[in-house]
Amino acid sequence: MSAPKKLFVKTWGCQMNVYDSERMAEAMGASGYEATESADDADMILLNTCHIREKASEKMYSELGRLKEHKLARPDVKIGVAGCVAQAEGAEIIRRQPMVDVVVGPQAYHRLPDMVARSSNGAKVVDTEFPEEDKFTRLPRGPKARRAPAAFLTVQEGCDKFCAFCVVPYTRGAEVSRPVARIIAEARDLVERGVVELTLLGQNVNAYHGAGPDGEAWSLAQLVRELARLDGLERIRYTTSHPNDMSDDLYAAHAELDKLMPYLHLPVQSGSDRILKAMNRRHTAETYMRVIERMRAARPDMALSGDFIVGFPGESDEDFADTMALVKEVGYGSAFSFKYSARPGTPAAGRELVPDDVAHERLLTLQAQITADQFAFQTSMIGRTLPVLVEKSGRKAGQVIGKSPYLHAVHFEAPATSIGQIVPVRIVASEKNSLTGRAE
Ligand code: SAH
Ligand code: SF4
Ligand code: F3S
Repeated sequence: MSAPKKLFVKTWGCQMNVYDSERMAEAMGASGYEATESADDADMILLNTCHIREKASEKMYSELGRLKEHKLARPDVKIGVAGCVAQAEGAEIIRRQPMVDVVVGPQAYHRLPDMVARSSNGAKVVDTEFPEEDKFTRLPRGPKARRAPAAFLTVQEGCDKFCAFCVVPYTRGAEVSRPVARIIAEARDLVERGVVELTLLGQNVNAYHGAGPDGEAWSLAQLVRELARLDGLERIRYTTSHPNDMSDDLYAAHAELDKLMPYLHLPVQSGSDRILKAMNRRHTAETYMRVIERMRAARPDMALSGDFIVGFPGESDEDFADTMALVKEVGYGSAFSFKYSARPGTPAAGRELVPDDVAHERLLTLQAQITADQFAFQTSMIGRTLPVLVEKSGRKAGQVIGKSPYLHAVHFEAPATSIGQIVPVRIVASEKNSLTGRAE
């Protein structure tokens, strides 16, 4: 038998890309490829790309530039581009970088092993279709390898919301929910391999409406309740939610289920109703605040996270002041903020831009507030004892790193044998982006 070939995967973008990379690597495993941590000894290099902002897509072309030498030295090495840039640009990628052999869009991943086989002898293979069949059931599974304690599981994909700035509805396609039974089967498999915490993924995960075993469409809350019954699965999270898809049963699930973690990532993008309208968000700052109030009523210790865009076309100083007011009112545990990036093919692409220096200034102001709030939230944990899921060994000997219920990284001293366990940890200090604690 020939030695296994080596596959190197590089991933950019959101958690769904991380999940997809794992699934593609597993599928390639069934065709004799094993994963490697370095591009240098790889027989195939797969770039899983993100198209959300201009900088994100540029990263793929810089990486391809760097790989040129490698491909010249070893022309037999296959180079594949997957993800949202692959979907958006398709064959154009091969025109710009002819050394690319395979371009595969996010809905065609189950065809990757076959595409790679067909790409021999210099043939180029591009697939950016949105096929009818379910890619997840057709993605071959690899051997049952042991997994890290925390894993992602995609339950819903695509988006029908068409925010004026966003490429996702075009790159990921229409909203689709996976059936409950398949999700439960995958969750069970992951738990058998050592997974303790699952993060359910979807571009609009709380719009989940997959077919249940009873033939009805199940909500995210129903799915979470079913998953919570799995022995060995201790923690459930979900991301990303949309304010318009919150439902009564999801608030209730947070109030009732200990396994459902008190952390909600709920992007709002702006605090100005005028800008929210121009963004086609179809909610107001007020309706967003009401969702947060209801969440906090159900689960008073709920940690909140959000996404913001500054410098959206038409954003005035007053609009930005509204965003700052909303941020202060919510008091986020963490949040992500971005300068608007015009994306080809989106409705806002042709609109007049806010001057770059103004947008930049606003980004700094917003980030300073978010950082201060994040630090205040972290410091409020000092002196408390939190249940921490130990995920891996730390950089220092004898140290491990785990996650608090509120998604803080927590460093503390414990043996590596504690990986996979949830242990009580007393928080003693807050660093910039993590907490330090002592096992109780
Ligand atoms: N599905 C999620 C997140 C999508 S992308 C949601 O509905 O909120 C993640 C974040 O990237 C977005 O929340 C938004 O803040 C940011 N983003 C998306 N398009 C952008 C653009 N054109 N410019 C700057 N930021 C953008
Ligand atoms: Fe993009 Fe809006 Fe859909 Fe989120 S809801 S993925 S921001 S279009
Ligand atoms: Fe990027 Fe696609 Fe995710 S554009 S953020 S990789 S859905």
